[in-house]
Amino acid sequence: MNKKTVRDIDLKGKKVLVRCDFNVPMDENQNITDNRRIVAAVPTIKYLLENDCAIILCSHLGRPKGEFKPEFSLQPVAKELSKQLGKNVIMAKDVIGEDAQEKAQSLKPGEIMLLENVRFHREETDNEPEFAKKLANFAEIFVNDAFGTAHRAHASTAGVASYLPAVSGFLIEKELKFLGEALENPERPFIAILGGSKVSDKIGVIENLLEKVDTLIIGGGMSYTFIKAQGYDVGRSICEEDKLDVAREILKKAKEKNVELLLPDDIVVVKEFNKDADYIIVDATKIPEEYEGMDIGLKTREKYAKKLQTAKTVIWNGPVGVFEFPRFAEGTNSIAKAISELDAKTIIGGGDSASAVEKAGLADKMTHISTGGGASLEFLEGKKLPGIECLMNK
Ligand code: 3PG
Repeated sequence: MNKKTVRDIDLKGKKVLVRCDFNVPMDENQNITDNRRIVAAVPTIKYLLENDCAIILCSHLGRPKGEFKPEFSLQPVAKELSKQLGKNVIMAKDVIGEDAQEKAQSLKPGEIMLLENVRFHREETDNEPEFAKKLANFAEIFVNDAFGTAHRAHASTAGVASYLPAVSGFLIEKELKFLGEALENPERPFIAILGGSKVSDKIGVIENLLEKVDTLIIGGGMSYTFIKAQGYDVGRSICEEDKLDVAREILKKAKEKNVELLLPDDIVVVKEFNKDADYIIVDATKIPEEYEGMDIGLKTREKYAKKLQTAKTVIWNGPVGVFEFPRFAEGTNSIAKAISELDAKTIIGGGDSASAVEKAGLADKMTHISTGGGASLEFLEGKKLPGIECLMNK
């Protein structure tokens, strides 16, 4: 990475503003249901503590659209982070208001505070300079460690870097190392598996990966658009009619570039979309009119697992079925299991595939699980991320 990190700047005793991505899922009682993003922020915070910094953390949570809404408060995050650090995290009642300012002013080296949800201000997502300046005024150095939000050009992810020396934390450094190395210098064979419901969400990723991979495996809702593009009926399966040409173009490009592109051979289909629906498994080219696809079939699971066994580098993004229904999560689980058994660099591109791996208890068997959903997708598309571009070059 050509961007400076916390290692490249004198932090001793300084007041530091750290942008984290504490956008974690919560249940209706504000209990955090997945603390991975909080745990992932700990190494940078500990390093800053070792350097006697006074640490002012900030993050967004959800999309409160510029208004204070108690259900979007970061209070539960402060509690969980205190637990993870074994140290009190002072919670500010606001973002740039009196309480935050007073607490930040009296913050001593070795103390940590967390500002309220930056998205309680519309100026955050508008990347308003005055708001960014106010955030910058809290500190002497800006550390961005919010990989999951690095694709957003907001005040606390990018704007603030105009007013303070800005470096990355260890999480951003680690994410860029694993995702970047896989894209730029993969050990081959390099296989990518892409799932998810829509081709339109993944066109950029597919196009970029076709330049890099040896094999591209497709599953999930978007495979029906590819199947239809080849002239087969997909029944009531999700299908983007306006993307059939795009799918054909992708199939053609893969051939030209000598990239093997694998599509499902058989599909688990149902008549009614619900979690307990009765299913049958049919040939992918023979989906009956009144049925819709829910998961990859057994033959496909076997074919994909066998291909994966040849890989030295794997990137996986997106479930290959309706994995939120346990009955139709088996294809996705079989991919997670196959990847976990490989002697290869295995990278999980965040979002739903990361949850699937976590749910299956296979997280510690993977080389890297990204904390970014949208951010890792944009990175895989080859896009520049504003939250990283704004940092100082080495
Ligand atoms: C995410 O969960 O992908 C990030 O926290 C970004 O959230 P956003 O899509 O609301 O900007």
